[in-house]
Amino acid sequence: MTAPDLPAELTAALNARLHGLSRTDAAARADAISKTYRAGGGSVAIRSEADALAYGLARMPATYAAVIASLNALSEVRPDFAPVSLLDCGAGPGTASWAAAQAFDSLNAFTLLDANPALRALALDLTAGSSRLAALRYDLGDAALRLAEAPQADLVIASYVINELNDAARKKMIAAMWAKTRDTLVIVEPGTPAGYARILDARAMLIADGAHVVAPCPHDHPCPLTAPDWCHFTQRLQRSKVHKQLKSAELPYEDERFIYVALSRTAPAQRPSRVLAKPVTTKVAITLKLCTDAGVIAAVAPRRDKATYARYRKFDWGDAVFDSNETPE
Ligand SMILES: C[S@@+](CC[C@H](N)C(=O)[O-])C[C@H]1O[C@@H](n2cnc3c(N)ncnc32)[C@H](O)[C@@H]1O
Repeated sequence: MTAPDLPAELTAALNARLHGLSRTDAAARADAISKTYRAGGGSVAIRSEADALAYGLARMPATYAAVIASLNALSEVRPDFAPVSLLDCGAGPGTASWAAAQAFDSLNAFTLLDANPALRALALDLTAGSSRLAALRYDLGDAALRLAEAPQADLVIASYVINELNDAARKKMIAAMWAKTRDTLVIVEPGTPAGYARILDARAMLIADGAHVVAPCPHDHPCPLTAPDWCHFTQRLQRSKVHKQLKSAELPYEDERFIYVALSRTAPAQRPSRVLAKPVTTKVAITLKLCTDAGVIAAVAPRRDKATYARYRKFDWGDAVFDSNETPE
């Protein structure tokens, strides 16, 4: 499914900064930042206003798509969840806060924190004219310090952040975020085996502390997948002209791979199964790789079973499957 575009207010705020911007310079900055990320250096390459803008233009659409997909999955399982306050940890240019504002009309108190002054400045600039986010609070400093002073929030998010921390700092940050979580904590990571491993660690750590998984897993048991298998999802997003220029890309779209977990203080009333891969459609059947409460199964809808086949045709990778009575083959 194609992801939603960035909110109109955010697009307008970003577009306002394109005037006079050298695409070549911005593309070089975005490339250097991306290389540093891939080499495990995190966001240290983002040092100036120009770096922050290049990063925002190159990465905000994909990060936003991943966070929106994660929050939509949470809302689908908990349709009654109406958070009023948000704490966005490692908020960077504010992407996850924009996504949360879009996903939850109920939000009206936004606290962001991040150690990077250039990204904080960009976030404040982009939200200055926003109808929802203009009054946000944005604390500058290391999460280890800033989280202690941050207010509790109904919804706490860490989007593409915990990969920048070493094991000890990551565990501390996860515990500190959970301590600030009144209802639900959402952690989103790049959809790589390493990102999946970090999500599994956070999930196990917080389940041991009393948390319940709302999404994507239909249970609080250990993940049933065995290596080399691993869990992640994908969001297709359309590329704007400037996005293509910055990423030196030809294709009009990009597929963002991500992994997430939403953990709540209360167990959800319903726990749908989850489609873990692109459905396989042949002439005779559709097969879903489905994570269920009883483990991962291949659920098959033969074409001759018209009702089930028609139902399966609507499912895509990442979807929740409610009322499933699918059983292993
Ligand atoms: C890849 S960016 C993601 C930004 C934002 N969450 C998003 O989804 O667009 C990671 C962010 O985490 C921040 N960060 C990493 N370690 C941090 C720490 N120990 N304390 C505060 N912020 C941190 C970085 O400064 C950077 O802004």
